[in-house]
Amino acid sequence: MSERLNQAQKKLASWQPSVNARYKPRYHLSVPAGWLNDPNGFGFFQGKCHLFYQYHPYDTVWGPMHWGHWSSEDMISWKQEPVAMAPDCTFDERGCFSGTAIEDGGRYCIMYTGVCEETPGGKTFQQQCLAYCEDGVHVVKAKENPVVGHELLPNGANPYEFRDPKLEKTDSGYRLIVAVQMDGEGKLLSFSSGDLIKWTYDGVYADGFGEMSECPDCFELDGQRVLIVSVIGCGDESLVLPQPVVYVIGREENGIFHAHTAMRDIDRGLDFYAPQTCLAPDGRRLLIGWAHAWGCEMPTHRLGHGWTGTMTLIRECFVRNDSLYQLPAREIEQRRGKACIQGNLTIGGRTALAQCAGACREMILDVDMRAADSFAVRLMETGEECVVLTCDKRKGTLTIDRGASGHSFAKDGERDTRTCATADVSLPGDRLSLRIFVDVSIIEVYVNGGEKVLTCQAFPKGGAYGVSAAAEGEAVITRLESYELV
Ligand code: FRU
Repeated sequence: MSERLNQAQKKLASWQPSVNARYKPRYHLSVPAGWLNDPNGFGFFQGKCHLFYQYHPYDTVWGPMHWGHWSSEDMISWKQEPVAMAPDCTFDERGCFSGTAIEDGGRYCIMYTGVCEETPGGKTFQQQCLAYCEDGVHVVKAKENPVVGHELLPNGANPYEFRDPKLEKTDSGYRLIVAVQMDGEGKLLSFSSGDLIKWTYDGVYADGFGEMSECPDCFELDGQRVLIVSVIGCGDESLVLPQPVVYVIGREENGIFHAHTAMRDIDRGLDFYAPQTCLAPDGRRLLIGWAHAWGCEMPTHRLGHGWTGTMTLIRECFVRNDSLYQLPAREIEQRRGKACIQGNLTIGGRTALAQCAGACREMILDVDMRAADSFAVRLMETGEECVVLTCDKRKGTLTIDRGASGHSFAKDGERDTRTCATADVSLPGDRLSLRIFVDVSIIEVYVNGGEKVLTCQAFPKGGAYGVSAAAEGEAVITRLESYELV
């Protein structure tokens, strides 16, 4: 083990016991101590699900990137594995950035971005590197690294903005789709190889992703080709965040992606970035994202709690009517504890839903809004403090508002500008169906069977985690299911 990996491991072991767990989610994965961003190397190897992540072990803000690691046999309980990679080689001395992995030939093969200095103290090259894991724990970097160096880049491609390889197996070997800034625009480049070591540049796979694209993912699903990209400098105001994660549905021809749809948000909430997908052994296309958005300051950092960074739930994806749908992976239902199931609750003025209160909950609400103009649910409620979810029937929208939810996400003294996010929702027969997950400091809302998802963090100062509902006019909750999640 290298000195830097050993040091990271020691830091984690000494820091983890003193982390303040007040806001730690219990059924979402969050960093044990330090800082976490993107999910990495998400997939299955030797029958276990592996999830690595961008990890800075020495602070609760972003810093030199390591890879943290969890594994699971059932996607319910997760084992914290030793730190998998540290920036300890000349080709990644400034960071082991995001990457992906596949099981192949009895090994877990990882491709990631190695960041290194062009000249001492100078700009940093981003190049693609290979690593192997044979025992599900220890990761060994290939001695041939970087295997996709900057010299393979075409004219116009920026070697300082070239990262996040998506590794796929093909009939003739392997393919990498890598994000790049090229001629000032976010594009994806395609490379192929027969042995993972010697790579050839094959051309632009897709383009038109703002000023820079990050973390591409692509796959076949329900007979369509789906491409997912995190976009910097997008400039499309119809998307929910300034740095959105979009999906495009299309087809692939001669190794080039052709879009059928415009870019659309995968998640319409305030906190979602850099998702990865993988194929489960049972054929499901699973997705996990970082439940955060660049540009916000995290309350747990400011409060000195010793940890910053949470993942979304693992989700199952499917394509319907040229749209990507997502539902929480069904394994979550095994965590259901005490349940309360009711029908026909009429909601006019504010009504407490005491049966839904609690810091770790799942609730399903089928709402008949025929006699209501709007329907609202307050989550994580203590007095006036809450996150509000409001469905406006006339506009056909669902808004999540964390403006009064407790600790601010703005830098000290600044105003929090990112407090609200809105999704268009279909309301067939004036009915709305919500599946809401609350987990201490994170909320995920799945609308109408996965048609839309809104993810949002909140750090309430109060500890009541109450829930209440209200309507303009009269709404009827035709079915309410509420589960404690354990
Ligand atoms: C996305 C990202 C990636 C990069 C990583 C660095 O959040 O910027 O493009 O590989 O984070 O931590």
